Amino acid sequence: MTDRLTILGIESSCDDTAAAVLRVEDGAELLSSVVSGQTDLHEAYGGVVPEIAARAHAERLDLMVEQAVDQAGVTLAEIDAIAVTAGPGLIGGVLSGVMCAKGLAMGLGVPLVGVNHLAGHALTPRLTDGVDFPYLMLLVSGGHCQFLRVDGPDEFTRLGGTIDDAPGEAFDKVAKLLGLPQPGGPVVEQAALQGDPKRFPLPRPLLDRDGCDMSFSGLKTAVLRTRDGLVTDQGGLHEQDRADLCASFQAAVRDVLAEKSRRALAGQSDLTCFAVSGGVAANQTLRAALEDVASAHGVPFLAPPLKLCTDNAAMIAWAGWEAYRAGQRDGMDLSARPRWPLDRTSPALIGSGKKGAKA
Ligand code: KG4
Ligand code: ZN
Repeated sequence: MTDRLTILGIESSCDDTAAAVLRVEDGAELLSSVVSGQTDLHEAYGGVVPEIAARAHAERLDLMVEQAVDQAGVTLAEIDAIAVTAGPGLIGGVLSGVMCAKGLAMGLGVPLVGVNHLAGHALTPRLTDGVDFPYLMLLVSGGHCQFLRVDGPDEFTRLGGTIDDAPGEAFDKVAKLLGLPQPGGPVVEQAALQGDPKRFPLPRPLLDRDGCDMSFSGLKTAVLRTRDGLVTDQGGLHEQDRADLCASFQAAVRDVLAEKSRRALAGQSDLTCFAVSGGVAANQTLRAALEDVASAHGVPFLAPPLKLCTDNAAMIAWAGWEAYRAGQRDGMDLSARPRWPLDRTSPALIGSGKKGAKA
């Protein structure tokens, strides 16, 4: 093994086509990270259409790799290893990425490493902040929602997760049913600033059940019923009703995530930090609540920069490096896996949202 390794990461498991170049020498340096989103392609359908996503990935992967290599100031000949998301995700997209990576690895004669997308998210605090094991990670996005205790690059214990919708998905659906634009998260957060979080007593699902599992689908339905009630009573929605509904919904998500985080941290005295990742981590109200929970437990709270929290290939390059360092090498028989739970001992989570399998 050379002292200096330049790794190309490739990600295409959902609706972002991404490539990144990471250099590891004494430390790790992210040389480039490019992402091409597909929101516009799926907008009209109210969710990601797997076939459209797969085609777009197949068309854009070459371009993203070229851009990542250019922006890193290297040539393909200087790439020492290829790390690629091999699951979980929408199978057509994962296949596009895996095939592209195999072609590159074979053509360049360099090792190939298949990476679990969720491991990419979960290991990001090590790339951004050099965090040591063990730590607690909360993944919250449009497609994921789970608590993971991370003990090593391939040692994950899932403490709980959503049994239906992911929180971002619920934010998006709430925005839609209030006639607000997509993606819903930032818009609902903005509207909630003018709203009364106590006006509508929405449910806090699964708080009455032990453990860290969560549910957000009933909460979204409760918002729908409240909206319909208001429309029946007053003939429509006022601006203030929308703001109050957004604030009440956000408060319910906050309470659920905070209480479940408290439970996930309980009894764990050896953690180096409580980290959060995923698009929903951008929400200031939720973040503040999670930060309070971490500080009450006496651990630092960490949220990587947003562009490394949402889907990207830098996290795949990093997770690939951790796996490579541990000796992992994949061959041309590397499979694309639609489902791939990080924690091999926990049963698969049920439910799959707009962004496919949550594993
Ligand atoms: O991680 P991400 O970019 O993609 C995946 O889902 O994989 O997360 C996107 C999700 C969307 O559902 C979006 O509405 C949500 O994150 N989101 C937010 C906020 N910003 C983005 N949810 C709540 N508050 C926000 N400020
Ligand atoms: Zn993701």
